[in-house]
Amino acid sequence: MEKEKRFTESGTPLPDEKFRIEVLPDGPYLVYGNPPVQQEILTQDEEGVSWKYAQGHSYATTENPTALCRCGHSGNHPYCDGSHTRADWDPSLTADNVPLLEKAMTYDGATLQLSDNPDYCARARICMAKHTAWKNTIRSNKPEARENAIHEATFCPSGRLKILDKETGEYIEPPLQPEIGLIEDPQKKCSGPLWVKGGFAVDSPDTAYERRNRITLCRCGASANKPFCDGTHIDICFNDQLPIPETKEKETEN
Ligand code: FES
Repeated sequence: MEKEKRFTESGTPLPDEKFRIEVLPDGPYLVYGNPPVQQEILTQDEEGVSWKYAQGHSYATTENPTALCRCGHSGNHPYCDGSHTRADWDPSLTADNVPLLEKAMTYDGATLQLSDNPDYCARARICMAKHTAWKNTIRSNKPEARENAIHEATFCPSGRLKILDKETGEYIEPPLQPEIGLIEDPQKKCSGPLWVKGGFAVDSPDTAYERRNRITLCRCGASANKPFCDGTHIDICFNDQLPIPETKEKETEN
């Protein structure tokens, strides 16, 4: 069966075609192009709410492709070690391929418009920080609220939230390079999805998934919206057992 043509979300960079990911129907993600892979550790603001990421350890992708775990059961995260053949998990790819924004709700504010498709929520919670992205969008005639709304939407790793500048009519997207983050969430004592940045092509044998600047792929094996993360990793306390550095080496900037 021929695949449908790939959609590309507005504001998505088109990186070198070597950066792509194949989702094997019963197994891992095959990552092509040797992108950097590193931990992205959710860190909190002074009020204890998620606000940024700190970069943790890096992991080599010397093989082309490099197989990264999708089932959550590897004994050698972030890599696949073949555990998916023995583990009790459902690899079914259940996500539809309707462009994310087509099913998004929109919230119209003074200078910004927020789009929100909760099916893709990775529960990073940055959107909840300073009065929430939704309320800040409504009040975006005030400079501080506008700045916070943009931060809260553009630091959403999954792209559930997108924010449009009403004056230019364009989405505000962070300039992300092709790389893969391993989200770690010490506050919830769990690990999160693969944060695929910078417009990778993601394909299964049947589907050319929409190309987007920010994508989160499930690596706990429990999402109901595979291959995408739906936040279930928090409910099942997924832990990749990777060491997390105590000192934050460098904060990720969008
Ligand atoms: S990693 Fe988020 S649901 Fe699996």
